[in-house]
Amino acid sequence: MDIKRKDALELFNKWIDSDSLIKHCLAVEGAMRGCAEHFGEDPEEWGVCGLLHDIDFQKYPQEEHLEHGPKILEEAGYPEYFIDAVKGHGDFTNTPRDTNMAKSLYAVDQLASFIIAVALVRPTKLEGMKYKSVKKKVKDKAFAKAVDRDEMQRGAEELGIEFSELVMIVVKALQKREEELNAQGQSLF
Ligand SMILES: [Fe+2]
Repeated sequence: MDIKRKDALELFNKWIDSDSLIKHCLAVEGAMRGCAEHFGEDPEEWGVCGLLHDIDFQKYPQEEHLEHGPKILEEAGYPEYFIDAVKGHGDFTNTPRDTNMAKSLYAVDQLASFIIAVALVRPTKLEGMKYKSVKKKVKDKAFAKAVDRDEMQRGAEELGIEFSELVMIVVKALQKREEELNAQGQSLF
């Protein structure tokens, strides 16, 4: 199957219309594009993985999250490694993360939204963002409390990228993505 954003968006729109979830998925998409570039893989395909990773989350936000997503993706024709990456972002599915796609998704799921949250409290948003702005907020336990700091660190470790480097890969990817989205009248914010 040729994985294209246009088709992915159609599926996405069938399942997700919550503004906050749309924003989260767009951020994870942008971050996954950056990871794909880092590994010399296809940004569109990896981006789609980020876009669709929470496909069942709006309808099944609690225990059933990721019980339905894989089936939805399978029916839409997505390949096994792609579906395994999606499953792998939930520790509770016990799906081994044995590809860079799966490891990247796990590593950026929370990190992408965390970086957007950091950008939101900066006057220049993502522009000129350095690792130290993010680091400061990681240490500030009152900031974006719901984000599991250990999980973010673990994600980078599994991926074999220093946390600071991964942060900047994602920051740069989100900067680029924001420009691209702005050109289409959309935004990560
Ligand atoms: Fe997510």
